[in-house]
Amino acid sequence: MKGLILSGGSGTRLRPLTYTRAKQLIPVANKPILFRVIESLRDAGVTDIGVVIGATGPEIREALGNGDHLDVRITWIPQRSPDGLAHAVRIAHDFLGDQRFVMFLGDNVIEGGIGGLIEDFTANDWNSQIVLKEVADPRAYGVATLRPDGSIERLVEKPAHPPTNLALVGIYMFDHHIHQAVRAIEPSARGELEITDAIQWLIDAGFHVAPHVHEGWWIDTGKATDMLEANSHALAELSPVIAPDCAIENSEIDSRVSVQAGARIRNSVLRGPSIVGCNTVIENSFIGPFTSIYHDVCVRNAEIERSIILEHSSVCDIAARLQDALVGRHVSVRRAVGKPQALRMNLGDHSSVWIP
Ligand code: DAU
Repeated sequence: MKGLILSGGSGTRLRPLTYTRAKQLIPVANKPILFRVIESLRDAGVTDIGVVIGATGPEIREALGNGDHLDVRITWIPQRSPDGLAHAVRIAHDFLGDQRFVMFLGDNVIEGGIGGLIEDFTANDWNSQIVLKEVADPRAYGVATLRPDGSIERLVEKPAHPPTNLALVGIYMFDHHIHQAVRAIEPSARGELEITDAIQWLIDAGFHVAPHVHEGWWIDTGKATDMLEANSHALAELSPVIAPDCAIENSEIDSRVSVQAGARIRNSVLRGPSIVGCNTVIENSFIGPFTSIYHDVCVRNAEIERSIILEHSSVCDIAARLQDALVGRHVSVRRAVGKPQALRMNLGDHSSVWIP
């Protein structure tokens, strides 16, 4: 079976981080989401993978290379503009041929693997399998209505008044009939060719679309709060490792903390689940649970909890604890010296600051 990963799009809801980086490359628990998606496919035995890329394509190609380091083979499928998930399937037809395939959205993070799902799809003659998850507010997703016998009655994309709480997860399996469906549908009101409409077309045409209700956690990392939640879940699942070549001095590090190669930790307290990246320096600081500090960061005289700090940033001499923070690359958070003792800031477009 082939794999298709959708990694185009613009990630506007994650600005300002996505002004300078593809949203699929933002790390959770110090690993880019896209790498997690590829590993899920690979671990389920899918190694021939097409990746749809858009404006952020060059950066994604650089990060993935030919896929060798992840033990997969990658075929690049450029999409001129983000015209919808069904449009991405249209342009991937040459790569997919008429084989059955699994499509995985490059910004989705899911608990557990997809091996069981792929086994079910392979063992049955279904034309498609979709994954559903009960969520509190499904308005930002595709939403499914099931019949009493558990089969799918109707799918609708981002309804203002959702008929149920069953959201469509970004993992889909199809046989070749989907190519007929994506050619038959028209753009939605938001101007995209919706995969939800293509699947509804399959149902209306009498093809068998099997639903699977996912019991574990699932996050579509569209917004900063989703990113922090995905980070917490991924950290909780991590098997902690302390790299042999890191330097730890006079510090208290609990058993759920991972420390990566070359990190230096002095006079600090670290509580897990959390992770400290390669060559990062932590001094006289407290790192609380659910925190991911990426590589080449400096944290000095500071306290950080339930946050993500990206590479080459520094957080120094801060009296207040940083919490629920998503800090980008090359950012400096530090104490102001001298007068006036006011909040001084230099923020990019679409930044947010919460002041108590
Ligand atoms: O995450 C699950 C949801 O994903 C589903 O519940 C919805 O039914 C489905 O439409 C989709 O909704 P989103 O609004 O979250 O999709 P988004 O625009 O964020 O795109 C998902 C991924 O696909 C993301 O990695 C970007 C990529 N993409 C998106 C578009 C529109 C492409 O590669 N090409 C595209 O044209």
